[in-house]
Amino acid sequence: METLNYIETTFHEDIGADVLKGLTAPRKSIPSKYLYDARGSAIFEEICRLPEYYPTRTELSILKDAAPAVMERFCGGDIVELGAGSSLKIRTLLGGLPAGRLQGIRYIPVDVSIAALEASACELVDLYPGLELLGIAADFTRHMDMIPAGRKRLFVFFGSTIGNFDEDEGAGFLKGIACSMNTGDLLLIGFDMLKPRAVVEQAYNDSAGVTAEFNRNILRVVNRELGADFDLGLFSHRALFNEERGRVEMYLRAEAETVVNIGALGLEVGFEKGEGILTEICRKFTREGIERTALDAGLAVTAWFSDPKGWFSLVIMERRGRQGG
Ligand code: TRP
Repeated sequence: METLNYIETTFHEDIGADVLKGLTAPRKSIPSKYLYDARGSAIFEEICRLPEYYPTRTELSILKDAAPAVMERFCGGDIVELGAGSSLKIRTLLGGLPAGRLQGIRYIPVDVSIAALEASACELVDLYPGLELLGIAADFTRHMDMIPAGRKRLFVFFGSTIGNFDEDEGAGFLKGIACSMNTGDLLLIGFDMLKPRAVVEQAYNDSAGVTAEFNRNILRVVNRELGADFDLGLFSHRALFNEERGRVEMYLRAEAETVVNIGALGLEVGFEKGEGILTEICRKFTREGIERTALDAGLAVTAWFSDPKGWFSLVIMERRGRQGG
């Protein structure tokens, strides 16, 4: 039985070209999107529940308090969630609606994974039988034009996922959203804030080794998809806070000199002992930086929600020109 109407794009990733480019560069890297196969996505959900990993918990607590104010500003139309994943955050947001006000609201999750869209739709339909749903299976960095226009829209982009883009990509992405927004549309977006090194590093180096497992999973994906022979036991997880750049950098570090064969590419890649592969960046933000990036994108910050410690922020942005500020 179909619980979900959805629009599917025909996109495919070129993992071969991406890995070739990343592993033949002077500083080796693999794009972080390859962390998220089914296994990786399941491990990621586990990360979100770790005691050391504060962002998910903190964002949810802020969202719980802010939801009524956000939903009051948004008087019906489409809620478009970019990179939807699990339904917990959207349920928390909808929890801010006064009872019976669901009418006229359509939820549009956008995610690369149809399985994730279906799963979250099932949970939502159980909770909100009247909710109109339209799933879009697409890469939200490339298919913003797939998202139906015409109604008033609230875009939501949780999890500080914007921090997983570098500065230029993040700025470009925000501009893309801004361009598709009309006056009166809202963007609710989560940012993990700059904080002391120890807290940040612990969050990405949990004692149970879940994040390490998540990181190493990318080698499993490359082994499977490209017939490579990475020995997972030789590569260890490193997450370092680069204070100068205000970001965590996640690496896989070769603990011994080794040569890896990537069958599908006919490529041999040599690693020196101690050499790293960059697999992810997680930028941390300041209020000034967020406001500047918003302005550059043609947006203005019109509401700011945070936790008492100021560790995480949920921000509403709107197109500039209407509020006069
Ligand atoms: N965007 C979140 C963050 O930056 C979640 C995340 C993305 C993450 N990639 C990760 C968490 C890798 C741990 C490891 O924290």
